[in-house]
Amino acid sequence: MEKELVIVLDFGGQYNQLIARRVRECNVYCEVKPYSMSLDEIKAMNPKGIIFTGGPNSVYDEESPRYENSIYELGIPILGICYGSQLMAHSLNGTVKTAPVSEYGHTNVNVDKTSVLFKDVDTDENGDTVCWMSHTDYIAEVPEGFRIVAHTDNCPVAAMENADRKLYATQFHPEVMHTKEGMKMLRNFVYDVCGCSGDWKMDSFVDSTIEQLREKIGTGKVLCALSGGVDSSVAAVLLSKAVGKQLTCVFVDHGLLRKNEGDEVEEVFGPNGPYELNFIRVNAQERYYKKLAGVTEPEQKRKIIGEEFIRIFEEEAKKIGAVDFLVQGTIYPDVIESGLGKSAVIKSHHNVGGLPDVVDFKEIVEPLRMLFKDEVRKAGRELGIPDYLVDRQPFPGPGLGIRIIGEVTAEKVKIVQEADYIYREEIAKAGIDKELAQYYAALTNMRSVGVMGDFRTYDYAVALRAVCTSDFMTAEAAQLPWEVLAKVTNRIVNEVKGVNRVLYDCTGKPPATIEME
Ligand code: XMP
Repeated sequence: MEKELVIVLDFGGQYNQLIARRVRECNVYCEVKPYSMSLDEIKAMNPKGIIFTGGPNSVYDEESPRYENSIYELGIPILGICYGSQLMAHSLNGTVKTAPVSEYGHTNVNVDKTSVLFKDVDTDENGDTVCWMSHTDYIAEVPEGFRIVAHTDNCPVAAMENADRKLYATQFHPEVMHTKEGMKMLRNFVYDVCGCSGDWKMDSFVDSTIEQLREKIGTGKVLCALSGGVDSSVAAVLLSKAVGKQLTCVFVDHGLLRKNEGDEVEEVFGPNGPYELNFIRVNAQERYYKKLAGVTEPEQKRKIIGEEFIRIFEEEAKKIGAVDFLVQGTIYPDVIESGLGKSAVIKSHHNVGGLPDVVDFKEIVEPLRMLFKDEVRKAGRELGIPDYLVDRQPFPGPGLGIRIIGEVTAEKVKIVQEADYIYREEIAKAGIDKELAQYYAALTNMRSVGVMGDFRTYDYAVALRAVCTSDFMTAEAAQLPWEVLAKVTNRIVNEVKGVNRVLYDCTGKPPATIEME
């Protein structure tokens, strides 16, 4: 039986993958496709529904992305969001205007519950529900055959519908968390308008991905860049289920791992672990320290670490011979923060934008590229990976290299490893590790004066960071209990040589990022 599919047609908005993820949360398979996809290609996929995303353009710009009008004649339900809603109105001869001021943020939207889109949506006594708006243009007049089903004080058409033609549009963003009833609206569209039954679960993703990987790789040989983190572990197990011993996992110990981590990874994935993987550990500590000597600029550090990774994989691939594919555990937030979508570059994520321009593999395979972290964890459980691995907090590819501000040296690595170990130990002892999405100790580049015994010291400051988040795109600094911070501080300054001060990072993301570099 063919599985149900909803297509998100991407017009350049920042929440494209989030829309797809929300639809998948409704147990309906969903993929993002570029707006340049032809109508025939869309028809061939036989989608149950199409969602037009937002985007930064105005429908009146010459250059702005459009789609041919025959898409509205297919009889496939369409939901336009933000720019997508304006595009629908404009294409069908409604009127779109530019407002003198933008409407941005939480907005009370008055909804008409006779629209199937707003079925069971909770509203206040005025019929309002809080939605997330972010627009300057707005629909001033709906096209013929449409009716207005939501408005705000400033926006006459916050949503419109032509139920007969199954065309719907919202000016606000139902996919973001700030739209309180957004999930219900998407669910209504997917189930009540598109007629989906919800036949998709994470096990379908796992099965179909294994199938696709088999097809793509055939009898070829595959190398997997394994770091022991959640993403690459899930990618490795997926690949091993797909192509068995055609896969070799290469684990590079770049000397920027947490204390004992290299051995822990080897224990799980090496010859004595539960998986039957071809496993190679490359001890490249000295090589990395040499390359990083004297380098202080964060992006340069990231690029060096990324490039060296690839060079090591190429070397290992040559030893194995005839390796066509390199597998990486890249997940969606890595892709957009590296600026490979349409958003600005925040950081060159090691397994994405940190890659050198020339890579000596036929293809890079990234089976988790469209998933968010919590979806990767679900896939990991589905694959039978033990909880303690699946629930591990994320650790970035460039490792401690981006948790040591400024130049990286073997001595600094040792300091940050010891401090981080103490921090993690105390967090676990306090039983708060499950409440935190990520926490670590970093080494600042600051030295300051202290006193120990009767002596003056002039040593480094360690910074502690702990954040709460589910998607890692935004995060809040965790409010750690003072007793825990005091205990960790006391232990670090007493037990770690070269440190005389401990600081706590209280900044959220934005404006900070989770990692320091
Ligand atoms: P930032 O610092 O960008 O981090 O707020 C968001 C999440 O991504 C992780 N991170 C990385 N993961 N390669 C990775 O595999 C990288 O280069 C990288 N940089 C950051 C970070 O630990 C956090 O979970």
